[in-house]
Amino acid sequence: MLIRRENPGDVEAVRAVAAAAFAPYEAARNPDRPDGLPVEVTLLDELRADPGWLPELSLVAPAPAPANAPGGGIAGHVVCTRAHIGSVPVLGLGPLAVHPAHHRRGVGSALVHAVLGAAEALGEPLVALLGDPAYYSRFGFEHSETYGVTAPDPKWGTYFQVRVFERPVPPPRGPFVYAKPFSRVDGG
Ligand SMILES: CC(C)(COP(=O)(O)OP(=O)(O)OC[C@H]1O[C@@H](n2cnc3c(N)ncnc32)[C@H](O)[C@@H]1OP(=O)(O)O)[C@@H](O)C(=O)NCCC(=O)NCCS
Repeated sequence: MLIRRENPGDVEAVRAVAAAAFAPYEAARNPDRPDGLPVEVTLLDELRADPGWLPELSLVAPAPAPANAPGGGIAGHVVCTRAHIGSVPVLGLGPLAVHPAHHRRGVGSALVHAVLGAAEALGEPLVALLGDPAYYSRFGFEHSETYGVTAPDPKWGTYFQVRVFERPVPPPRGPFVYAKPFSRVDGG
């Protein structure tokens, strides 16, 4: 599985992957508008225009098939954006999306491993996300409260998780604040 940084030519394909991946969620949220654009696609658009966008942490998994394959040649995408705990810069992971035509082939895992490796190599202390612990625990994510990190919304409970990197200084504790566009959705 080859993972690389997103380049400007990937933007539309990445949107298409996110639209396809999150379509079932959007249909469940808005049964009266089942073909509506998933909120995660709008979130991606807004994150790209936000100062919290980190191009070095926007990664794609090219599809193993020709460029006219589902997803426009991109099988999956992940991004981490700038977040804060107090004044300490940390990362928020998401959206993570794999085109349904490429599910369960290790694409999502490869993307998460790659972005976590890049984050650690860049010296980041911590990555947080809102997601299913049944999926994310395999990457070392734990309930954020274990590390004294408070979710933006207390209703998220164990779904708000952090991956902490071993560093000489202890990771920051306190309320987690995502890049601004996340405040309009439930954590991506
Ligand atoms: C979640 C997602 C990224 C996984 O991508 P993927 O490439 O299929 O994942 P992988 O092939 O690396 O891993 C598949 C494994 O994860 C499991 N898995 C996928 N989604 C899961 C979930 N929500 N909860 C628990 N396990 C999950 C699969 O059952 C499979 O398990 P197995 O390896 O034991 O068979 C993909 O299903 C997706 O894009 N979903 C829609 C968007 C989404 O939910 N994004 C995450 C938001 S936090």
